Amino acid sequence: MALIELRHVTKIFGRAPREGLARVRAGVGKEQLLAETGMVLGLHDVNLAIEPGEIFVVMGLSGSGKSTLIRHLNRLIDPTDGEVLVDGEDILTFSARALEAFRRRRMSMVFQRFGLMPHRTVLANVAYGLEVRGEARRARERTARDWVERVGLAGYEDSYPHQLSGGMQQRVGLARALATGADILLMDEAFSALDPLIRSQMQDQLIALQAELNRTVVFITHDLDEALRIGTRIAILKDGVVVQVGTPAEILLAPADDYVAAFVRDVNRARALTVEAVMKPPVCRLTDETLDRALAEMRRHGAAEAVVMAADGYRGVVTAAKVEAALQAKGAPRRLAELAVAAPTFTPDTPIERLVPAALQAGVPLPVVDEAGNVKGLVTPEAVGKMLAEREAETAPAGIETKPRDAA
Ligand SMILES: Nc1ncnc2c1ncn2[C@@H]1O[C@H](COP(=O)(O)OP(=O)(O)OP(=O)(O)O)[C@@H](O)[C@H]1O
Ligand SMILES: [Mg+2]
Repeated sequence: MALIELRHVTKIFGRAPREGLARVRAGVGKEQLLAETGMVLGLHDVNLAIEPGEIFVVMGLSGSGKSTLIRHLNRLIDPTDGEVLVDGEDILTFSARALEAFRRRRMSMVFQRFGLMPHRTVLANVAYGLEVRGEARRARERTARDWVERVGLAGYEDSYPHQLSGGMQQRVGLARALATGADILLMDEAFSALDPLIRSQMQDQLIALQAELNRTVVFITHDLDEALRIGTRIAILKDGVVVQVGTPAEILLAPADDYVAAFVRDVNRARALTVEAVMKPPVCRLTDETLDRALAEMRRHGAAEAVVMAADGYRGVVTAAKVEAALQAKGAPRRLAELAVAAPTFTPDTPIERLVPAALQAGVPLPVVDEAGNVKGLVTPEAVGKMLAEREAETAPAGIETKPRDAA
């Protein structure tokens, strides 16, 4: 079961939302609704299922409805129509008291402008959520100290927010959100106010913490590079409508429409995509044997290359062409292990960028090996070249800016 689910969520801002809803159902779009009634279509029939442990990114241009969407998850906003479910329960049916408990225990929010309390120390800021919950001073300070340390701020416990840089303040914000133990983190443009370098450090830290803690993160950004970097999946919003949901590779390689295509056009694919997106499964694995037997085996599989394995794991890669050549040549190695090229291996999550030099050098496809030493696939230089060359040929439709607020 999905952890969070939005079903047919529509939000209309303005004087008569129900009347607006009727118009929207009759086919009126955001622009027309505004022109005719002055009401704003914030979200339109949004359906999403967010799985536990995901970093689920919502992205879109300014005004597309990102903040409106995330605010539905803790009921800072109630929908005009539709349901919001957490663990299968409709949070719109919660009593005031149940809602308060839900907000304290299940969700915590990290804000763009940090939202720290200026007259409280770092430690007291981080401990705040636990204090509200009535935890004893000692216990909450122990927990808070631990989180301050984990986000890399040990030694700053007694500092005040104004004594810290922006990046440090946002670490405090993150520690505060994590300290409550809430399993759902809502982050609305949480890193947007940070310098690029600090920002990428915070992204790394979030990814690392996430891998360790397995909380669920709903992360809003208007920056595609950030979305691709941290997202397990990405939802793209346009005028309150979800136009695509997919993994970073799906968004990059198969944009659903021109709007998404315009976003992804300038992305550095070699950096954004991982080896997983270009590898093919290894169809032929061989142990050390004679070249005749190896070649026969490769032909039987219709494989142009094979991974050579030894008792202790991966040994190297051979191509059928090389084996054939060796069989013809006098004085060439007679055993497969001697012929195999011990090409460097890569894990599936390696950015393609890091594999390119080796792919050009090795002269054989490169093996993709997981942490347990299992060969998961092979990457050919041709596959890398093809993926990097595939670009949307057409130009963007007029009026779509891909980075609306970066200059702001
Ligand atoms: N309280 C409100 N009253 C009226 N209209 C609103 C309200 N909140 C949001 N809107 C409108 O709803 C739409 C979506 O706004 P929202 O703040 O969700 O966009 P966003 O994607 O978060 O944009 P940004 O990237 O600028 O933060 C916009 O057209 C906005 O004007
Ligand atoms: Mg917003």
